[in-house]
Order: sequence, then structure tokens, then C-alpha cells
Amino acid sequence: MSDKDFFAHETAVIDDGCAIGNGTKIWHFSHIMPDCTLGEKCNIGQNVVVSPRVTLGNNVKVQNNVSIYTGVVCEDDVFLGPSMVFTNVINPRSAINRRNEYASTVVKQGASIGANATIVCGNDIGKYAFIGAGAVVTKIVPDYALLVGNPAKQIGWVGEYGHRLEFNDRGKAVCPESKQEYQLADNKVIRTK
Ligand SMILES: CC(C)(COP(=O)(O)OP(=O)(O)OC[C@H]1O[C@@H](n2cnc3c(N)ncnc32)[C@H](O)[C@@H]1OP(=O)(O)O)[C@@H](O)C(=O)NCCC(=O)NCCS
Repeated sequence: MSDKDFFAHETAVIDDGCAIGNGTKIWHFSHIMPDCTLGEKCNIGQNVVVSPRVTLGNNVKVQNNVSIYTGVVCEDDVFLGPSMVFTNVINPRSAINRRNEYASTVVKQGASIGANATIVCGNDIGKYAFIGAGAVVTKIVPDYALLVGNPAKQIGWVGEYGHRLEFNDRGKAVCPESKQEYQLADNKVIRTK
């Protein structure tokens, strides 16, 4: 891959050992630290920090003022809203080095995290889950779940197009936009069509 296959604003800093996919854009004052892997067609907004060895999939959209710490993985099509916050140490103390204790957080395919939300580390975010603005996530989030509040609680389900899923008494829902179909069983949602 040549340097020309992605765009980085002249104020962005990209450290050694990074692999950046075709069509990715990195905007003003953002810093990609050593040995990161960014997929294709990602958009990294302004004032974003991607810490060493982080992996982002394809088409990951990162809004302004987000830090993606070591231990975080974002799969394809993840959306990180403006100023949302990851964490990677559960009990930080300034005087105690916990650099070997970074907890991992996987944000699975298609999940969206709203503006100013905080993800307490170790709590993976399920496929296509939706975290409302300002939520504080303290537990593992199921696929397609919609959570809001502090501490975040599930208030429903959302489909892949980001619409609420209204399940009928047979546990079936249809997305009003895409007409995709979903089944709810045993408190789990899967897409059936
Ligand atoms: C979570 C969200 C998707 C819910 O949207 P919705 O399905 O239209 O929900 P409603 O507006 O009908 O709200 C349903 C209830 O949840 C509450 N609610 C909605 N969003 C909330 C939030 N972020 N935090 C806390 N409560 C919230 C509402 O007050 C309402 O409560 P009520 O039933 O007691 O009146 C939306 O509010 C949200 O936070 N979107 C994220 C926006 C964002 O950060 N975008 C970033 C890109 S700029």
C-alpha cells in the first residue's frame, strides 16, 4: 500500500508501525500511536487518539475528541459518538503501574455509541447494539440491545438500520426502513431475513 491510499491532515501524527487501509481519513490534530491497524474507509475525526496496538475494522467512524485505548477493539462499521470515553484500567492509581493490566473491550460489528457515553472496561458491546448519549455502560451489552442512562439499562432493541424493534407476540419484528426481519427468543435477538 502506498502512502497515497489514505488521507491524513497535515496536523495529524501517525507513528511507526501503523497499517492504515485504503480510503481512510484522519483529520486535524489526531494521533495514531505505534503499531495500530486501521481498516479501510474509516473516518477519524478531530482530536482523536488511537493508542498503541489498537485495531479498528473497516468503515469505523470516530467522532471528535475520542481516545481509543490499548485493549479496545472496534469491529467493522462501529460508530463512536463525539467525546465518548473508553477506559482500560478498572482501578487506576497514579502511583501504581498497571500497564500490564489493561482490560479489553470489544465493540462488535455495527454497534453505535452515543455522544459522551462512557464504557467501563471489560464490558463488550454486542453486534449492532446502541448506547444512548451520556450512558455509563457497566455490564456486557447483548447484540441489538438499546441502553441508556447511568448506570446504563436496556430499554429495548434496535435493528441494523438504527430503528427500534417492536416485537409481536410471536417474537417477530420488521425494520420499518430496510424491512429486515428479526426474532426475539430467550432474550436474544437474531436477524432472520
Ligand atoms: C437512545 C436514543 C437512540 C433513543 O432514541 P428514541 O428511541 O427515539 O427514544 P425516545 O426519545 O423515544 O426516548 C425513550 C425514553 O428514553 C429516554 N432517553 C432517550 N435517550 C436517552 C439518553 N440518551 N439517556 C437517558 N434517557 C434517554 C427518554 O427520555 C424517554 O424516557 P421516558 O420514556 O421516560 O419519557 C437517543 O435518545 C440517543 O441517545 N441517541 C444518540 C444520539 C447521539 O449521541 N448521536 C451521536 C452522533 S452526533
